[in-house]
Amino acid sequence: MATRRKRYEIPNRRKIAEAHTEPSLVHEAVTRPPSREEASEVPFFDEGAVDRSMDETIEYAQGLRIIRKLAEGGMGTVYLAEQLGTAAFSKTVALKVIKRQWLRDKRALALFVSEARLVADLVHANICQVYSLNRYRGQLFIVMEYLHGLGLNRFLKAHTRSSYLPPPDYSAFIASRVTRGLEYAHTKKSRDGAPLAIVHRDVTPSNVILDFRGFVKLTDFGIALAITHKSIEGKGVVTGKISYMSPEQAHAEPVDYRSDIYSLGLVLYELLTGHKVFKARSVNEVRQQMKDRITPPHEVNPKVPEELSKICMKALRYDPMDRYQSAREFGNALEYFMYHDRWGPTNEKLASYLQKVFPNIERDKIL
Ligand SMILES: Nc1ncnc2c1ncn2[C@@H]1O[C@H](COP(=O)(O)OP(=O)(O)OP(=O)(O)O)[C@@H](O)[C@H]1O
Ligand SMILES: [Mg+2]
Repeated sequence: MATRRKRYEIPNRRKIAEAHTEPSLVHEAVTRPPSREEASEVPFFDEGAVDRSMDETIEYAQGLRIIRKLAEGGMGTVYLAEQLGTAAFSKTVALKVIKRQWLRDKRALALFVSEARLVADLVHANICQVYSLNRYRGQLFIVMEYLHGLGLNRFLKAHTRSSYLPPPDYSAFIASRVTRGLEYAHTKKSRDGAPLAIVHRDVTPSNVILDFRGFVKLTDFGIALAITHKSIEGKGVVTGKISYMSPEQAHAEPVDYRSDIYSLGLVLYELLTGHKVFKARSVNEVRQQMKDRITPPHEVNPKVPEELSKICMKALRYDPMDRYQSAREFGNALEYFMYHDRWGPTNEKLASYLQKVFPNIERDKIL
């Protein structure tokens, strides 16, 4: 058992350390699919397990009680739950049960588990914190921080439905908070100081949650690897995600942290203009669209200051070498834009704005 653990903790530390200084190696170092032998040792896989709804099976299992289903996403089903302790101790959490279709093959599952271990210690104000990865009757689920808010996808939809756009300052603020979460994850080190070379790989509007207190949190760290690995291989492409791929992801090339910078650029573009840069149903289609010139945001929406438009376009350069070279650089540019000459956006201002846009949402009640 001890040797098995060791093997999965951090795949090939030396390679990861080298990878940090050599971007082209990052993908190989962290995403290398586990070998057949490694995959067969993953303790979570339970081929004989019956697919059941989580409500039936998990109630009171492992000290958790499901309160209600929150949403059904591309990767799994999300539930509001309580983590129970002694003397009526109860902590509100969210559970995400990973759809079995993504983890049916042992390699995808092994990839998922090894990546989950890499991201276990990510604790940052702009990242949804994962508490544990559990298994119950063959179902794999994540226990994480419950975020009382809404996804950026819903935020965007609410605006486009009423034919207006979020003020550019708030869009810059949301993106800047995500850069801070990314910066932290991209530079995160293991307990013994080795760079982990974590890349999110799935920065999309639905994975950015706006909490009603005005906090911005990036979710689903570590989930994308196994899934994008599968979809790029052509086995059931994840719809909704294709439009947020970086060129290197779309070409199944090695990716590093600059891929996340590109994807966040796509999210920022959508916030600023109300339009997706790419509207594709297949990877081939998105590859074609990536050859076209992107119209700068200020040409689509005249309310976008040219300075902000330029920042967005720099994140969207096709060649990773031409983009911001770190999330920190991207974040600094956004913060300079927001604060160098005025009292720019804050969490509190964003919270008040959310209150205006969603006046009927219960802010203080989660049940
Ligand atoms: N920690 C959380 N707390 C509260 N709600 C959450 C949490 N995580 C996710 N959700 C909600 O559940 C929804 C579904 O999440 P999920 O990650 O499964 O799918 P998605 O983000 O919509 O799509 P995908 O991740 O496949 O791109 C999210 O849009 C979000 O509104
Ligand atoms: Mg998600």
